[in-house]
Amino acid sequence: MALPSPIAWAPSGAVRILDQTLLPDQERYVDLSSVELVAEAICSLRVRGAPLIGIAAAMGVAMGAARESGAPAMGRGLERIRTMCARLGATRPTAVNLHSALARMERRAERAVGAGEDLREALLAEANAIWDEDRAMCARIGAVGADLLPDGALVLTHCNAGALATGGIGTALAPVYTLHDAGRKMAVIVDETRPLLQGSRLTAWELARAGVPYTLIADSMAASRLRRGDVTCVIVGADRIAANGDVANKVGTYGLALAARAHGVPFYVAAPTTTIDPATARGADIPIEERGAEEVAGWQGHSTAPAGVEVWNPAFDVTPAELVTAIVTDRGVVPPREIARAMD
Ligand code: MRU
Repeated sequence: MALPSPIAWAPSGAVRILDQTLLPDQERYVDLSSVELVAEAICSLRVRGAPLIGIAAAMGVAMGAARESGAPAMGRGLERIRTMCARLGATRPTAVNLHSALARMERRAERAVGAGEDLREALLAEANAIWDEDRAMCARIGAVGADLLPDGALVLTHCNAGALATGGIGTALAPVYTLHDAGRKMAVIVDETRPLLQGSRLTAWELARAGVPYTLIADSMAASRLRRGDVTCVIVGADRIAANGDVANKVGTYGLALAARAHGVPFYVAAPTTTIDPATARGADIPIEERGAEEVAGWQGHSTAPAGVEVWNPAFDVTPAELVTAIVTDRGVVPPREIARAMD
């Protein structure tokens, strides 16, 4: 299966990313040679998806440490690592993976300094471990989720929670790829995902590359399609799952969950345990990123609304736990209300 690799180490030690803002027209890799460039790439969604921005940020910290001049193992080194983590953590608020990966890098730096270890080596190993663990969690989600899908399943998904969003085969798309790889028949309905079109630009692109049959729809068509009765289930990813099972994911997910409930279609959220945030009690406590007006009022520099139009552009929404049939994690299928226990 030809899945894309959205991140790599460049031979120079820079963080190499597939620039997702250019897809599907151009498949261009860019080398990010400073923490500031990694931060810009996360803000601008060149690199995106909850698990992947955690991996990219961790790699950014490891690269930043490696590029520090002087003796990074000293107290000053730790201070610099904390500054890098703060910069990268300020890029996007919603995906908890970003913040937990950075907290993990900071803790590793503290331990390394305390134990007199080589800070650069310790941080490089930690970033690679975060990446490797995500790859393994995606594979587990694929195996766990595949058991939920009958032969010939038709899966509706929103945004991109595939290989482009993770260090492995994705989360929502992991069961699809697992079954496809095993030669089972199945197909996907892809929500276009306004305003930044992660569905049509990214999910459709990676499904086509993998040879998985799919149909693209505009977001406004999802409810009608669910009413038709041929959709087996909805599977989406998540940016943060609160302790009570409420789920933050790409804006539009909540409406899809309501429509799925109205038509009796199972609504699954697929996410690694790193997306569960036991410290956030309820969905209402999840910080929701608001992005610029130009994303809604224009496309690639062209206006699609009158100049100066007032816009509301939350990048994510919260789906209450009661609309979620189950959460598919690397540790099994969990009822949303029991998600905090999946962390034990
Ligand atoms: O703004 P994006 O493109 O980073 O949003 C991505 C999503 O909402 C994904 O569904 C989520 O991060 C899960 S990715 C495995």
